[in-house]
Amino acid sequence: MPEPLNVLLIGSGGREHALARALARSPRLNKLWVTSDNPGLLQLGTRVDVPVDPRELYRLEQFCDRHRIGLVVVGPEDPIAQGFADKLASETRLVFAPSQAAARLEADKAWAKDLMRSASIPTADARAFTSAEQAIAYAESREDPVVVKAAGLAKGKGVIVCDTKDEAVDAIKRVMVAREFGDAGAKVIVEQRLKGPEVSVLALVDGRNILVLPACQDHKRLGDGGTGPNTGGMGAYCPAPIATDEIMDRVEREILVPTVDALRREGITYRGVLYAGLMLTHAGPKVLEFNVRFGDPEAQPLLARFQGDLIELCAATASGGLHEVDVSWDPRPACCVVLASEGYPESPRTGVVIEGLEEASAMTDVVVDHAGTKRDKQGRFLTAGGRVLGVTALGKTLSEARDRAYEACSRIRFDGMTYRRDIAREAIETPTLRA
Ligand code: AMP
Ligand code: GLY
Repeated sequence: MPEPLNVLLIGSGGREHALARALARSPRLNKLWVTSDNPGLLQLGTRVDVPVDPRELYRLEQFCDRHRIGLVVVGPEDPIAQGFADKLASETRLVFAPSQAAARLEADKAWAKDLMRSASIPTADARAFTSAEQAIAYAESREDPVVVKAAGLAKGKGVIVCDTKDEAVDAIKRVMVAREFGDAGAKVIVEQRLKGPEVSVLALVDGRNILVLPACQDHKRLGDGGTGPNTGGMGAYCPAPIATDEIMDRVEREILVPTVDALRREGITYRGVLYAGLMLTHAGPKVLEFNVRFGDPEAQPLLARFQGDLIELCAATASGGLHEVDVSWDPRPACCVVLASEGYPESPRTGVVIEGLEEASAMTDVVVDHAGTKRDKQGRFLTAGGRVLGVTALGKTLSEARDRAYEACSRIRFDGMTYRRDIAREAIETPTLRA
């Protein structure tokens, strides 16, 4: 058994809380450091005392040297796209995150589209524009419905699915002119709107080997039945029954392997999580987006089922040793329901007292991950973000996992608490459609 490691976890949300739980379970952990005041993370790790800022990365680097950090795990896309992995890796330190060059797969959707096109990876036909007039002219010339996407990073929200040409024109104006998603909208993608159930397939890639993880299903829209605006994700379950072995084989063969190969041809060795957001169309699985990290909330049900040593797995991914790691999963499905603030995603109301957390967390086979919370002077938990908590339960069946997660949700209360009531419903009620 190698020496126990000091681990630095970068990030602040529910995904990171789930990662921290799994890291804390590892027999190889010496000390866990975290970069956020998220109370869930502070229960498991110690807050770093230097800024976590891309312009002052040397300070984090010095921190890592001083505290003999042997492994850095990066949760969110922003620090990955800002090159944290490149900067923080050293002779004695592994980083679980792809390089800045590889992060373009998520941070530059136009580049990702070109890469897919060059490698014949199935995806929606699309065109990229830096001029709003040209984008509008193109959208008006299309007979079929389109989807308008901000090309840069927009926290999972920069996508507008349109039914009509007028909606498409309006969407382009929102993204490019009003800059609703900031600079992410300097370039826009106008793409063919696909039909079919969605599934997220995540894999670990160590440069050479690919370990495909159990498929998850996210629920991106705010409202029941997939209505309302896109969010970062309102709930997820794992495994997704729609992703049969045959589909998973196809995804690996037609999408994941060719993507890693295409990146290699660009001179990029991919190491980290490769997340493919897919639509299962009549013509087979097609890529909606790539992410270069775990999904949030997909990480919560995924990691609730993970039974291995996460430090070992992250270190193997970062160092090219995935073929030597055995990974096992709890056979029981897991379901995560996100509790959000009133007004999310546009303008979440925060600072509201949360009650019932202990009661919900004490339930068997339930974990409550903190996404956007803080503590006040009296030690009470308050809401501090759009997505507040992720409530994840395991069950013998998906239906049991779902019921248990909702039972736990019913014990938590805060003013304006908003959540979807239909997480996993389609998979449970329409097994023929199964998504
Ligand atoms: P993305 O962030 O690119 O995964 O997009 C967010 C959501 O928008 C997806 O989960 C889909 O529901 C929807 N979406 C994205 N691209 C398309 C597309 N080409 N056709 C239909 N729906 C899409
Ligand atoms: N839940 C989708 C994402 O993390 O991008």
